[in-house]
Amino acid sequence: MFSKIQELAVEAGRIILEATSIEEAASEKSSNSDIVTEYDVRVQNFLIENLMALCPDAYFLGEENSSGGDEGKLYSGKAFVIDPIDGTTNFVRGFKKSSVSIAYVEDGEVVYGCCYMPYCDELFTAQKGKGAYLNGKRITASDRSIEHAVVAVGTTPYEKNKSRATFEIMRIMFESSMDVRRFGSAVIDLTDVACGRTDLYCELGLSPWDHAAGAFIAREAGAMVSTMNGSELPLDRRCSVLVGNSKCYEFFRNSEQVLKYKDLF
Ligand code: IPD
Repeated sequence: MFSKIQELAVEAGRIILEATSIEEAASEKSSNSDIVTEYDVRVQNFLIENLMALCPDAYFLGEENSSGGDEGKLYSGKAFVIDPIDGTTNFVRGFKKSSVSIAYVEDGEVVYGCCYMPYCDELFTAQKGKGAYLNGKRITASDRSIEHAVVAVGTTPYEKNKSRATFEIMRIMFESSMDVRRFGSAVIDLTDVACGRTDLYCELGLSPWDHAAGAFIAREAGAMVSTMNGSELPLDRRCSVLVGNSKCYEFFRNSEQVLKYKDLF
């Protein structure tokens, strides 16, 4: 089943690569920052149809809808958590930094993760307990200290009420590290930590489809993964996300300056 999931992620990537007139195909969802395109829906339908054929009894949670609105089902039985195009704004504006993300879950635990970045043909995969891979080669998180770290900070664009804390945390990370990045795709932020390009990633609010596969891959690559207050990432609601090598993760968790914002974690 896992090799078929990989094939489907790559095929879905082809739909993204062949997309035309993308800006015209976009519309607003919950706010001016939250957009969807006809391609998000097309990729999601393609994935659900094919994954359902593969695993007919699975529950589906996708960014553009779910198979029943009963997120409790994520914690018993089989489920897929998918983001058809993570980095939708990047996709619409032609930044070429977006990803297809598929997590396969059994009884609330991710057991397989697959993220495909079509623009650079990078396929990240991980199976529970078997490590993480990029295009078939084993990857591991970095070992850099915070002074030498590059830190990705997501801006939680759909919750502007968190912007003060977000940009304060970004400032603290910037002053403590080598530099910061904001790539516009949580999946890319997570897989960048997994392969050691960056050393830490944090964001105050993500949905399960944003983190399910990428955070799992990062954990299989040896990174520390949790909400900002150290809990397991839930699959049935939004949460903060903190993923990094152990040195940078511990730095964040113990920073007095960062902890001032813990009410939002
Ligand atoms: C968004 C991206 C972005 C992150 C947002 C996500 P979407 O996902 O991953 O980087 O900052 O929090 O919602 O909407 O492009 O799939």
